[in-house]
This record gives sequence, C-alpha cells and structure tokens, in this order.
Amino acid sequence: MKYAFSDRTKRFQSSAVRDILKVVNQGNVISFAGGMPYDELFPLMAVEEAYKCVFESGKKTLQYGLTEGFLPLREKIAERMARKNIKVNEKNIMLTTGSQQVIDLFSRILLNPGDIVLTENPTYLAALQVFQSYEANIVAVDSDEAGMLPDDLETKIKTYLPKFVYVVPTFSNPAGKVWSLERRRHLLSLAQKYHVIILEDDPYGEIQFNESETYTPIASMDDGKHVLYTSTFSKTVVPALRTGWVAGPEQIVRMMAQAKQAADLHSSSIDQQALYYLIRDFDLDGHISVLRSEYKMRMEVMRDQLSSLSLPGLSYVVPQGGMFFWVKLHEQINTTQLLQKAIANGVAYVPGAPFYVSDIEYNTLRLNYTHATPEKIEQGMRQLVEVLEEAYRSLQPVF
Ligand SMILES: Cc1ncc(COP(=O)(O)O)c(C=O)c1O
Repeated sequence: MKYAFSDRTKRFQSSAVRDILKVVNQGNVISFAGGMPYDELFPLMAVEEAYKCVFESGKKTLQYGLTEGFLPLREKIAERMARKNIKVNEKNIMLTTGSQQVIDLFSRILLNPGDIVLTENPTYLAALQVFQSYEANIVAVDSDEAGMLPDDLETKIKTYLPKFVYVVPTFSNPAGKVWSLERRRHLLSLAQKYHVIILEDDPYGEIQFNESETYTPIASMDDGKHVLYTSTFSKTVVPALRTGWVAGPEQIVRMMAQAKQAADLHSSSIDQQALYYLIRDFDLDGHISVLRSEYKMRMEVMRDQLSSLSLPGLSYVVPQGGMFFWVKLHEQINTTQLLQKAIANGVAYVPGAPFYVSDIEYNTLRLNYTHATPEKIEQGMRQLVEVLEEAYRSLQPVF
C-alpha cells in the first residue's frame, strides 16, 4: 500500500540524536550523545512520595484537567520565575508536554509555509525539526561567543521580516554558549523596534556552575509583549514527567492553548499534580544545588581529558553550565563519517552537522558530560581519543 502522506511530511526529518540513542541503548557503548541527566541523581523517593500524595487526594485527581494545566503548579512556577525577575501570573503560564511542545505549539500558531525564523547557527536540532515541519524557512544569524552579532541581526530582521527569533541564550545546546547581557538587551530592543517575537528557550538555566553568577533572562527585561519564555522540569527533576511550561503575552498563550486543545486536550494532570506536591514538600533548590556541583565535577573530568590532547585545530569552550562540550577538530575531520568507528570503539557522540542551518562545519561534535559517571567519562574519552588520533594519523602522516 502506498500511503498518501501530506506534502508537509516531506520536510520531516528524523532526529540524529534520537537515531544515535537507539543504536547506543542496544549495545555496551558509553554515550556522550543524549542531553540526558544522570539517572542515579533522580530524586526517586521524592517523586514516589509526590505520587502518593496525588493518589491520596482521591478519585477526582483522575479526572480530565484544564488545557492550561494544574493551577497550583502554575502558581508555583510563577513564584519560581519571579525569583528570576520574570513577572508573569499563572494565567499567562501554560503547562505542556515538555518544552518541546512549546516550540511546536508556538510554531503551529505563527508559521505559514515560507515564513522566516531566525536562529543561531548551530542551534537546537529538535527546534529546527519543528520549524521545518511547519514549512518555515530558517535563516541563521551570524554569532560569536557572546550571542548574535548586532549588525547581522538587524540586517536580517529588516531583510526577512521574520515571524520570530529562536534563541537559547543561557548554556545553549549544542554550543554551551552564554549570551552577554548587552547582546540580550540588543536582541530585545530590536524585537521591540521591529515588532518581532523572541522565543527564549531556557531548559538549562538552572544548571549553572558558578552559583553567584546571574544570567538575566531576556523575558525579565521585556515589557510583557515581545518574549515568549519556555523552560522545563526535565533537567532539574526528571524528564519522564514530560512537564515544561510556557510564559508570555496572554494573547499568545491563549492561542497556544487552543492549539493544544486540538493536539492533546491537556498534558498528563497526574504528572502535573505530582510535580506540585514535589515542589511543595521537597527541597528542589537543594537538589538543584547538588546537580550543579555533580555536573560541574563531571564537566571538569571531561575538560581535563580534553585539555590533555594536542590535536591540531582542536578547540572548545569550557561550559559555565548546562550539559555539553562543543568541540571543533581539524577542518578535514568529518565527525559524521567518524561516528561509526567511535561506536565500534564503544563510545558515542553527536556529530555537529545536524545542528546547523547553513554553512555546516563537519569537523564539530557535541559531548554530553551529565549522563556518565566520572569513571565512564574517563574511559569513554580514552576510547574517543583513540578514534580521533587514528583519524588524524590518516590525515597527516607526520602526526
Ligand atoms: C534547547 C532545548 N530546548 C528544549 C528541549 C526539550 O526538553 P523537554 O521537552 O524535555 O522539556 C531540550 C531538550 O534537550 C533542549 O536541549
């Protein structure tokens, strides 16, 4: 049978990360591929206690819920966001199936085929998948380590009149980048000047290694009209709860709620209630502190391994938070081609190519340091280095 899929599906692409994870999960491979938290740090008891509270509160908890999500959890989120100076009330917050669904619903209500979305290059590949699935044209803005370059950003806003600008300004995926305050302000001022919306995706903001540092969300400087902010409990509590949220202009959130009604009526209200009890009864901030120091320690183990290498063209930025090293190699090394060899040698990473919108740099790769133990990180890095050194040898006989 030949199925007559819609034209839209021609733009669908399978996620390179999820495809690699399928292979990696089958074998005895040390994975630096997924953006996954460390299982042993999951607050299992607290999650269990939270679900007990849900079931103890009677059968009504099993009923259909609001599309916008469980109100007491939205109130807790509003309180937590106020600590970052993002002033939203619970009416302007909607709970979603991960922040991934925010990217999808927001795209659904804004994008017509051919509309332009501006992004960084490279950027979060599952966001690119969404924009492509709605037949948008994605245009990359030139950037450096501090964020999008002001002149190129303004030129591209004026030239392309984008529907929105998608950014991950704090510990970006894949580049582990932190935007400077000046660049954040600049993007916001252009958004206000040219009436463009910013989608600020902030899944990693809480995973900061220097506790005294402040990373000002763009949403906290907005007049309440130009920034749609999304975050998630996937990295701070557990991803299996699939609970994220969106906060921003009421009209946008309301339109997204209508799109969500069509998509799934609402996300799991049992999970949302459990999260509410967890935040009420468990020291989530204390837990986040533990995550910060554990992940920092793992990052340092990987950093030490990387810093001991002397491979021509090797460069990386030491992350200040988040979950990834973004590594550049000699320009003739193709990490997509090298991946099978790495997996055969017991280690996986994500090649850089799928994160690019244009001007693909095939000599890049993303390494996650949060999912493996320090011992496994050391072992996996040794295995990766063997593969890299072999690749370099075949490039340069003198090496
Ligand atoms: C930049 C970015 N945005 C959004 C997500 C989606 O996270 P979730 O749907 O689990 O909340 C991720 C997941 O890794 C991510 O890296």
